[in-house]
Amino acid sequence: MALEHHPAHVLVPERDLGYRSFEIRTLTPHIGAELRGIDLAQPLSSEQDKELRRALHDWKVLVFPDQDLSAEQHKTLGAHFGRLHVHPQLRGADMKHPEILPVITNKDSLFTAGDGWHADVTCEEIPLMGSMLYIRETPECGGGDTLYADMCMAYELLSEPMKQFLSGLTAIHDGAGPYSEQHAMGIGRPAPGEDYPRAQHPVIVRHPETGQKLLYVNSGFTTRIVELSAAESRSVLDLLFRHVESNPKLCCRVHWAPKTLTFWDNRSTQHRAIWDYHPHARVGGRVSILAEARPSA
Ligand code: SIN
Repeated sequence: MALEHHPAHVLVPERDLGYRSFEIRTLTPHIGAELRGIDLAQPLSSEQDKELRRALHDWKVLVFPDQDLSAEQHKTLGAHFGRLHVHPQLRGADMKHPEILPVITNKDSLFTAGDGWHADVTCEEIPLMGSMLYIRETPECGGGDTLYADMCMAYELLSEPMKQFLSGLTAIHDGAGPYSEQHAMGIGRPAPGEDYPRAQHPVIVRHPETGQKLLYVNSGFTTRIVELSAAESRSVLDLLFRHVESNPKLCCRVHWAPKTLTFWDNRSTQHRAIWDYHPHARVGGRVSILAEARPSA
Protein backbone atom coordinates (compact mmCIF):
# COMPACT_ATOMS: atom_id res chain seq x y z
CA MET A 1 0.00 0.00 0.00
CA ALA A 2 1.42 3.38 -0.99
CA LEU A 3 1.88 5.92 1.78
CA GLU A 4 -0.02 9.15 1.28
CA HIS A 5 2.24 12.09 0.59
CA HIS A 6 2.68 14.49 3.46
CA PRO A 7 5.19 17.32 3.60
CA ALA A 8 8.57 16.52 5.12
CA HIS A 9 10.06 19.78 3.86
CA VAL A 10 9.13 23.34 3.25
CA LEU A 11 11.22 24.62 0.35
CA VAL A 12 13.70 27.37 1.09
CA PRO A 13 11.84 30.59 0.27
CA GLU A 14 13.31 32.95 -2.28
CA ARG A 15 13.52 36.25 -0.43
CA ASP A 16 14.94 39.59 -1.42
CA LEU A 17 18.01 40.23 0.76
CA GLY A 18 18.64 43.64 -0.76
CA TYR A 19 18.27 46.30 1.96
CA ARG A 20 19.62 49.84 1.95
CA SER A 21 19.08 50.63 5.65
CA PHE A 22 21.09 47.79 7.25
CA GLU A 23 23.25 44.73 6.61
CA ILE A 24 21.57 41.39 7.09
CA ARG A 25 22.93 37.96 7.99
CA THR A 26 20.37 35.20 8.10
CA LEU A 27 20.46 32.71 10.99
CA THR A 28 18.78 29.83 9.12
CA PRO A 29 17.26 29.57 5.62
CA HIS A 30 13.74 30.06 7.05
CA ILE A 31 13.70 32.05 10.29
CA GLY A 32 15.90 34.61 12.05
CA ALA A 33 18.22 37.34 10.83
CA GLU A 34 20.86 39.52 12.43
CA LEU A 35 20.76 43.17 11.39
CA ARG A 36 23.68 45.59 11.74
CA GLY A 37 24.27 49.17 10.71
CA ILE A 38 21.07 50.65 12.12
CA ASP A 39 20.88 52.68 15.34
CA LEU A 40 17.59 51.88 17.08
CA ALA A 41 18.02 54.75 19.55
CA GLN A 42 17.33 57.20 16.68
CA PRO A 43 13.89 57.81 15.16
CA LEU A 44 13.32 55.46 12.21
CA SER A 45 13.22 56.98 8.74
CA SER A 46 10.44 55.91 6.39
CA GLU A 47 12.89 53.75 4.43
CA GLN A 48 14.12 52.06 7.62
CA ASP A 49 10.51 51.55 8.72
CA LYS A 50 9.56 49.95 5.40
CA GLU A 51 12.61 47.72 5.27
CA LEU A 52 12.31 46.63 8.93
CA ARG A 53 8.69 45.61 8.36
CA ARG A 54 9.68 43.63 5.25
CA ALA A 55 12.51 41.93 7.16
CA LEU A 56 10.16 41.11 10.06
CA HIS A 57 7.61 39.55 7.71
CA ASP A 58 10.27 37.50 5.96
CA TRP A 59 12.51 36.48 8.87
CA LYS A 60 10.09 36.78 11.83
CA VAL A 61 12.93 37.21 14.38
CA LEU A 62 15.30 40.17 14.00
CA VAL A 63 18.42 40.38 16.15
CA PHE A 64 20.14 43.76 16.60
CA PRO A 65 23.53 43.53 18.34
CA ASP A 66 25.29 46.53 19.93
CA GLN A 67 22.31 48.78 20.61
CA ASP A 68 22.59 51.47 23.30
CA LEU A 69 19.05 52.02 24.52
CA SER A 70 17.62 53.79 27.54
CA ALA A 71 14.23 52.65 28.87
CA GLU A 72 12.61 55.65 27.14
CA GLN A 73 14.28 54.81 23.82
CA HIS A 74 13.23 51.16 24.13
CA LYS A 75 9.61 52.27 24.61
CA THR A 76 9.81 54.82 21.78
CA LEU A 77 11.10 52.11 19.44
CA GLY A 78 8.23 49.79 20.41
CA ALA A 79 5.65 52.57 20.09
CA HIS A 80 6.83 53.19 16.53
CA PHE A 81 5.16 49.87 15.62
CA GLY A 82 1.93 50.22 17.62
CA ARG A 83 0.34 50.68 21.03
CA LEU A 84 2.43 49.31 23.89
CA HIS A 85 1.02 46.48 25.97
CA VAL A 86 1.18 46.43 29.77
CA HIS A 87 1.66 42.90 31.01
CA PRO A 88 -1.25 41.60 33.15
CA GLN A 89 1.18 41.03 36.03
CA LEU A 90 2.26 44.67 35.97
CA ARG A 91 -1.15 46.36 35.69
CA GLY A 92 -1.59 48.67 38.62
CA ALA A 93 2.05 48.16 39.67
CA ASP A 94 3.80 51.19 41.07
CA MET A 95 6.74 51.38 38.67
CA LYS A 96 8.30 53.97 36.41
CA HIS A 97 8.00 51.95 33.18
CA PRO A 98 5.07 49.50 33.47
CA GLU A 99 5.35 48.94 29.68
CA ILE A 100 8.74 47.26 30.22
CA LEU A 101 8.43 43.74 31.60
CA PRO A 102 11.59 43.01 33.64
CA VAL A 103 13.23 39.80 32.39
CA ILE A 104 15.65 39.10 35.19
CA THR A 105 16.98 35.74 36.32
CA ASN A 106 19.64 35.34 39.00
CA LYS A 107 20.80 32.91 41.68
CA ASP A 108 17.66 33.52 43.77
CA SER A 109 15.16 33.03 40.92
CA LEU A 110 12.56 30.30 41.32
CA PHE A 111 11.83 30.28 37.59
CA THR A 112 12.83 32.13 34.46
CA ALA A 113 10.24 33.85 32.29
CA GLY A 114 9.45 31.92 29.13
CA ASP A 115 11.06 28.61 30.11
CA GLY A 116 8.72 26.55 27.89
CA TRP A 117 7.43 26.95 24.33
CA HIS A 118 4.96 29.82 24.09
CA ALA A 119 3.98 32.98 22.26
CA ASP A 120 3.64 35.98 24.57
CA VAL A 121 0.29 36.61 26.28
CA THR A 122 -1.97 34.89 23.73
CA CYS A 123 -4.51 34.83 26.59
CA GLU A 124 -5.40 38.44 25.71
CA GLU A 125 -8.44 39.09 23.44
CA ILE A 126 -6.16 41.26 21.35
CA PRO A 127 -2.72 39.69 21.69
CA LEU A 128 0.62 41.08 20.60
CA MET A 129 1.92 41.76 17.11
CA GLY A 130 5.44 41.59 18.44
CA SER A 131 7.85 41.86 21.33
CA MET A 132 11.25 43.51 21.73
CA LEU A 133 13.52 42.00 24.34
CA TYR A 134 16.60 44.04 25.24
CA ILE A 135 19.25 42.11 27.17
CA ARG A 136 21.69 44.26 29.13
CA GLU A 137 23.59 41.59 31.06
CA THR A 138 24.34 38.03 29.95
CA PRO A 139 25.56 35.15 32.12
CA GLU A 140 29.35 35.21 32.42
CA CYS A 141 29.39 31.43 31.97
CA GLY A 142 27.70 31.75 28.53
CA GLY A 143 24.24 30.28 27.80
CA GLY A 144 20.88 32.00 28.22
CA ASP A 145 20.04 31.66 24.51
CA THR A 146 16.47 31.78 23.21
CA LEU A 147 14.93 29.37 20.69
CA TYR A 148 12.34 30.66 18.23
CA ALA A 149 10.09 28.49 16.04
CA ASP A 150 8.33 29.42 12.79
CA MET A 151 4.58 28.83 13.09
CA CYS A 152 3.91 29.33 9.35
CA MET A 153 6.31 26.47 8.65
CA ALA A 154 4.76 24.44 11.50
CA TYR A 155 1.42 24.78 9.68
CA GLU A 156 2.92 23.92 6.29
CA LEU A 157 4.50 20.74 7.67
CA LEU A 158 1.11 19.35 8.74
CA SER A 159 -0.56 16.89 6.38
CA GLU A 160 -3.53 18.11 4.30
CA PRO A 161 -6.10 16.07 6.31
CA MET A 162 -4.70 17.52 9.55
CA LYS A 163 -4.84 21.07 8.15
CA GLN A 164 -8.45 20.50 7.14
CA PHE A 165 -9.36 18.99 10.51
CA LEU A 166 -7.90 21.96 12.39
CA SER A 167 -9.37 24.69 10.21
CA GLY A 168 -12.52 26.08 11.78
CA LEU A 169 -11.58 24.92 15.30
CA THR A 170 -11.02 27.41 18.10
CA ALA A 171 -9.07 27.14 21.34
CA ILE A 172 -9.01 28.70 24.81
CA HIS A 173 -5.83 30.53 25.83
CA ASP A 174 -5.79 30.98 29.59
CA GLY A 175 -3.45 33.19 31.62
CA ALA A 176 -4.41 31.42 34.85
CA GLY A 177 -2.07 28.51 34.10
CA PRO A 178 1.33 30.18 33.82
CA TYR A 179 0.54 33.28 35.84
CA SER A 180 -1.11 31.60 38.82
CA GLU A 181 1.87 29.24 39.09
CA GLN A 182 4.13 32.28 39.38
CA HIS A 183 1.59 33.95 41.67
CA ALA A 184 1.89 30.94 44.00
CA MET A 185 5.61 31.74 44.18
CA GLY A 186 4.70 35.29 45.20
CA ILE A 187 5.36 36.89 41.81
CA GLY A 188 3.02 39.19 39.90
CA ARG A 189 -0.69 39.02 40.52
CA PRO A 190 -3.58 40.61 38.63
CA ALA A 191 -4.52 44.11 39.73
CA PRO A 192 -7.28 44.22 42.40
CA GLY A 193 -10.63 43.44 40.80
CA GLU A 194 -8.97 41.95 37.69
CA ASP A 195 -8.69 38.31 36.72
CA TYR A 196 -6.09 36.58 34.59
CA PRO A 197 -6.92 37.17 30.93
CA ARG A 198 -8.60 34.36 28.97
CA ALA A 199 -9.51 34.37 25.29
CA GLN A 200 -10.72 32.14 22.47
CA HIS A 201 -8.80 32.19 19.16
CA PRO A 202 -8.85 30.13 15.94
CA VAL A 203 -6.40 27.20 15.92
CA ILE A 204 -5.29 28.19 12.43
CA VAL A 205 -4.85 31.92 11.93
CA ARG A 206 -4.05 33.99 8.89
CA HIS A 207 -1.23 36.50 9.39
CA PRO A 208 -2.92 39.91 9.00
CA GLU A 209 -0.11 41.41 6.91
CA THR A 210 1.37 38.52 4.90
CA GLY A 211 -1.82 36.47 4.54
CA GLN A 212 0.13 33.29 5.42
CA LYS A 213 -1.63 30.63 7.48
CA LEU A 214 -0.04 29.69 10.78
CA LEU A 215 -0.55 27.37 13.72
CA TYR A 216 -1.84 29.41 16.67
CA VAL A 217 -1.76 27.16 19.74
CA ASN A 218 1.05 27.10 22.28
CA SER A 219 1.81 25.00 25.32
CA GLY A 220 2.18 28.08 27.54
CA PHE A 221 -1.39 29.30 27.25
CA THR A 222 -3.62 27.02 25.14
CA THR A 223 -5.68 24.77 27.39
CA ARG A 224 -8.60 23.45 25.34
CA ILE A 225 -9.93 23.07 21.81
CA VAL A 226 -13.51 24.14 22.27
CA GLU A 227 -15.23 21.97 19.64
CA LEU A 228 -13.65 18.68 20.83
CA SER A 229 -14.27 16.54 23.90
CA ALA A 230 -11.83 17.09 26.76
CA ALA A 231 -9.93 13.87 25.94
CA GLU A 232 -9.80 14.62 22.20
CA SER A 233 -8.67 18.17 22.88
CA ARG A 234 -5.87 16.99 25.19
CA SER A 235 -4.58 14.50 22.60
CA VAL A 236 -4.72 16.93 19.67
CA LEU A 237 -3.04 19.74 21.65
CA ASP A 238 -0.32 17.36 22.84
CA LEU A 239 0.25 16.27 19.24
CA LEU A 240 0.53 19.89 18.08
CA PHE A 241 2.81 20.89 20.96
CA ARG A 242 5.05 17.89 20.16
CA HIS A 243 5.05 18.91 16.50
CA VAL A 244 6.63 22.23 17.54
CA GLU A 245 8.95 20.90 20.27
CA SER A 246 10.35 18.01 18.26
CA ASN A 247 11.01 19.76 14.96
CA PRO A 248 14.40 21.53 15.01
CA LYS A 249 14.05 22.68 11.40
CA LEU A 250 11.34 25.11 12.58
CA CYS A 251 13.85 26.86 14.82
CA CYS A 252 16.58 29.41 15.05
CA ARG A 253 18.63 30.01 18.18
CA VAL A 254 19.43 33.54 19.30
CA HIS A 255 22.65 34.04 21.19
CA TRP A 256 22.65 37.22 23.26
CA ALA A 257 25.52 39.56 24.04
CA PRO A 258 24.99 42.56 26.33
CA LYS A 259 23.07 45.32 24.48
CA THR A 260 21.35 42.98 22.02
CA LEU A 261 17.73 43.70 21.14
CA THR A 262 15.60 41.04 19.47
CA PHE A 263 12.30 41.96 17.80
CA TRP A 264 10.02 39.03 17.01
CA ASP A 265 6.67 38.67 15.30
CA ASN A 266 4.58 37.18 18.09
CA ARG A 267 1.91 35.86 15.69
CA SER A 268 4.13 33.81 13.39
CA THR A 269 6.57 32.54 16.03
CA GLN A 270 6.82 30.84 19.40
CA HIS A 271 9.86 30.95 21.62
CA ARG A 272 11.50 29.35 24.61
CA ALA A 273 14.14 30.76 26.96
CA ILE A 274 16.92 28.34 27.93
CA TRP A 275 17.83 28.51 31.63
CA ASP A 276 21.17 26.76 31.58
CA TYR A 277 23.19 29.32 33.54
CA HIS A 278 22.09 29.02 37.18
CA PRO A 279 23.44 30.53 39.50
CA HIS A 280 24.62 33.24 37.05
CA ALA A 281 22.47 36.21 36.08
CA ARG A 282 20.79 37.41 32.88
CA VAL A 283 19.12 40.84 32.93
CA GLY A 284 16.91 42.66 30.49
CA GLY A 285 13.45 43.96 29.77
CA ARG A 286 10.71 43.36 27.22
CA VAL A 287 8.47 45.84 25.46
CA SER A 288 5.46 44.36 23.67
CA ILE A 289 3.31 45.86 20.94
CA LEU A 290 -0.42 45.22 20.67
CA ALA A 291 -1.90 43.85 17.46
CA GLU A 292 -4.62 45.91 15.84
CA ALA A 293 -7.28 43.22 15.92
CA ARG A 294 -8.10 39.76 17.23
CA PRO A 295 -6.39 36.90 15.39
CA SER A 296 -8.65 35.60 12.62
CA ALA A 297 -8.73 32.65 10.27
C1 SIN B 1 10.05 35.85 26.98
O1 SIN B 1 9.39 34.82 27.01
O2 SIN B 1 9.61 36.88 26.50
C2 SIN B 1 11.48 35.85 27.51
C3 SIN B 1 12.39 35.20 26.53
C4 SIN B 1 13.81 35.20 27.01
O3 SIN B 1 14.09 35.57 28.15
O4 SIN B 1 14.67 34.83 26.23
